[in-house]
Amino acid sequence: MEHQLTLHYRTYENWRETLAIPKRIAEQLEALLISAYAPYSRYPVSSIVVMESGTMIVGTNQENAAFPSGLCAERVAVLAAKAAHPDEAIQTVYIMTGESEREPAAPCGSCRQVLHETELRQKRPFELILLNKTNKALGFTGTQGLLPFSFTLPK
Ligand code: THU
Repeated sequence: MEHQLTLHYRTYENWRETLAIPKRIAEQLEALLISAYAPYSRYPVSSIVVMESGTMIVGTNQENAAFPSGLCAERVAVLAAKAAHPDEAIQTVYIMTGESEREPAAPCGSCRQVLHETELRQKRPFELILLNKTNKALGFTGTQGLLPFSFTLPK
């Protein structure tokens, strides 16, 4: 038997102009890029997690000379958010790369796993917004579509 999965997502042709992406968040994401620690890849990434209460937690990629020991921006932000607010749901996760050449970069597989399990914990989807320095942005309601057949332990 054959099956088909459908992925729903939004594109923003000019995120600087859309009300869906608040200006103050976009400005903060851009400002954060310079505080990324990315001496090896020279590829800065910033992330902002907005909790249901409106509290914001920031993250940037934090690399390490022992390469696998570094962490992506969104994992820094999401894990810090859940450490500080374990019982509060995440409303939106924003991720911005410093790129200006191509479409916004999408999270790596390990981050998708963490984003998805975080969503399962809170039993409700959050918004995921991907931006870069072009005008384009991508929006997803929920992370399931980005990680079909995700791994979970048996109950
Ligand atoms: N990176 C992130 O922080 N988030 C992403 O969504 C994609 C990749 C980081 C990992 C590494 O520090 C650098 O970007 C280049 O691989």
